[in-house]
Amino acid sequence: MASFAPPKGTDDIVPPASAAWRAVLREWDTWAERFGFGLLMTPVFEATELFARGVGESSEVVRKQMYTFEDGGGRSITLRPEGTAPTVRAYLASGVQGAWKVAYSGPMFRYERPQKGRRRQFYQVGAEHLDSEDPAADAAIIELGYRFLEALGVPGVEVQLNSLGDPEDRPAYLTILRTWLEERRDELCEDSRQTMELNPMRVLDCKACAPLLADAPTPVAHLGEDAASAYAAVKELLTEAGVPFVEEPRLVRGLDYYTRTAFEYVATELDAAQTALGGGGRYDGLAEAIGGRRVPGVGLAMGIDRIVLAMGGTQATSPLDAFVVATPGRDRHARGLVSRLRLEGARVDIADRGRSVKAQFKAADRSAAPVTLVVGDEWDQGEITVRRMADGTQETIGIEEITQWLEL
Ligand code: HAM
Repeated sequence: MASFAPPKGTDDIVPPASAAWRAVLREWDTWAERFGFGLLMTPVFEATELFARGVGESSEVVRKQMYTFEDGGGRSITLRPEGTAPTVRAYLASGVQGAWKVAYSGPMFRYERPQKGRRRQFYQVGAEHLDSEDPAADAAIIELGYRFLEALGVPGVEVQLNSLGDPEDRPAYLTILRTWLEERRDELCEDSRQTMELNPMRVLDCKACAPLLADAPTPVAHLGEDAASAYAAVKELLTEAGVPFVEEPRLVRGLDYYTRTAFEYVATELDAAQTALGGGGRYDGLAEAIGGRRVPGVGLAMGIDRIVLAMGGTQATSPLDAFVVATPGRDRHARGLVSRLRLEGARVDIADRGRSVKAQFKAADRSAAPVTLVVGDEWDQGEITVRRMADGTQETIGIEEITQWLEL
């Protein structure tokens, strides 16, 4: 092999940078559990039809970005570009009746033009609340994502909120929008002129046409009665929960399944082209679009790659509490100590056997553990030497005091 680099648009996520990823995944599990979401794991590949029908033929994801191939049995398979359609499929397959709250995490695949924060294999955490029509479910989903980002300390997160209305509201609105766009066709960019034919609402999202679109008719100004009162309820519930948000009438999402609530978490301080850390919304028609019964639902997904970027890369904390160094002849005792400390809950490591003390200290340094525990002859008196790596100070303590000393 000429190169060991991973395929274009993909990454190896390795220590120490991966510590931030681990922290993000743990935080996600904590918050998903607190909000009552069970764990869902679905295959990373699905029948192509699921995404074609579920995500929608007019979405860029389905038109241009799917990793689709034929398997050995002649089936058309697609690596999942997102997790919502698979969740709804799994709900229908499971035979569950009634509300279902599930959370997931894992790799997603989209054939994109790679750049910082836009990868071909990327990672999402997500949560879906199925078979609930209540705007309280929308508000709770938005709050879950907000609390999660807040706990991670991501700076400058803005929740942008919109309503795209019900399918019944849409034909009348689209007629108005099309007419408005047609009248300004010559002023639109080439991309928007094309998008207009397939999915006029997506034009609202065009950054290049933003000044022109400031006065465009928006879906939120053309809501039916039910969607309007649901939108009002979501805003009220968010305010009561203390989740700040801004209304963004031109926010339309990139996937076709959204009805009513749509939202994004935007990192306003992130200096990158890709500032959407996550997004989601309601998708009351998705289950029917893939051939099932009506199952209203609402959910969100966040991109871990972008969250880690917004957090500023690696975590400051050490992945270890202590590193153990064995002086000659003390290897068995040192390894026994490591086992005992691990059972007591400490994060501890030790170098390979037969390494010189100097080499072991080098390994201790590299590990970034704040403390080195040196097992020497004082072991026979029930003692070891502890060294604080920050300032090199050391002292001898009783073996029984170690856990206390490590503040475990
Ligand atoms: P999405 O907006 O397509 O929504 O993706 C959600 C998040 O995944 C984005 O905000 C972004 O952070 C991340 N993401 C998407 N594509 C990439 C990429 N190529 N590279 C890096 N990060 C990326 C969904 O996927 C919906 N399933 C969300 C949802 C859940 N709606 C309802 N329930």
